[in-house]
Amino acid sequence: MRRFLVVGHRAATTPSFPLDDLAGAAGRMDILLASANAALLLAHDIRRDAEAALLLLGPPDPPRLVRIQGHRVRSYQPDLRSNAALVRKALDHGSRVEREASPGILASKASFEEALDRLGPTFVYLKQGGKDIRQEAIPADATFVLSDNQELTPDEERALLARDALVLGLGPYAIHTDHAIALVQNELDRRGV
Ligand SMILES: C[S@@+](CC[C@H](N)C(=O)[O-])C[C@H]1O[C@@H](n2cnc3c(N)ncnc32)[C@H](O)[C@@H]1O
Repeated sequence: MRRFLVVGHRAATTPSFPLDDLAGAAGRMDILLASANAALLLAHDIRRDAEAALLLLGPPDPPRLVRIQGHRVRSYQPDLRSNAALVRKALDHGSRVEREASPGILASKASFEEALDRLGPTFVYLKQGGKDIRQEAIPADATFVLSDNQELTPDEERALLARDALVLGLGPYAIHTDHAIALVQNELDRRGV
């Protein structure tokens, strides 16, 4: 299983977020949805061995975790607006207990640490300046952790490193989150993982 956890530091947690302003009023939900596409989509198929885990930190509290699973999700298209509607539906579910809000889409309330508890135990933290991914072995069944257009906070980074996350870099430039996921997918594809 290839799993990508993307942290949306300002991503809206209410099901009423506007579909027409994903980059603005929805708190850069566009980044999370583009990342989910990079995690899940091939040109003419879906990656059934992949999962996109989107952590929406709000406001308002509490944060929400929405997991989109390639082997279960139905009618998943590249269109960000349609996928935002799937996320909105998932946000109707407001319990700490994870529930399948629609086929292949799991929703729950979860903080950053609770999300790590659910998605662990093995993590790769993608960070500019980390060890070059081309030179490193990538642990099997790792969850790759990325941030949106902000860095992980020091507390988030500490929580991740306390779980022995391997810190990997993808080259000399800060790139967009979805591009980082595409590079990791390519690396894993080439290695036949
Ligand atoms: C747009 S970057 C984060 C903000 C960035 N520091 C900036 O200057 O805009 C989004 C995410 O993609 C990943 N990323 C971007 N460039 C990377 C690189 N060169 N190596 C590894 N991960 C990278 C990281 O997870 C990062 O949090």
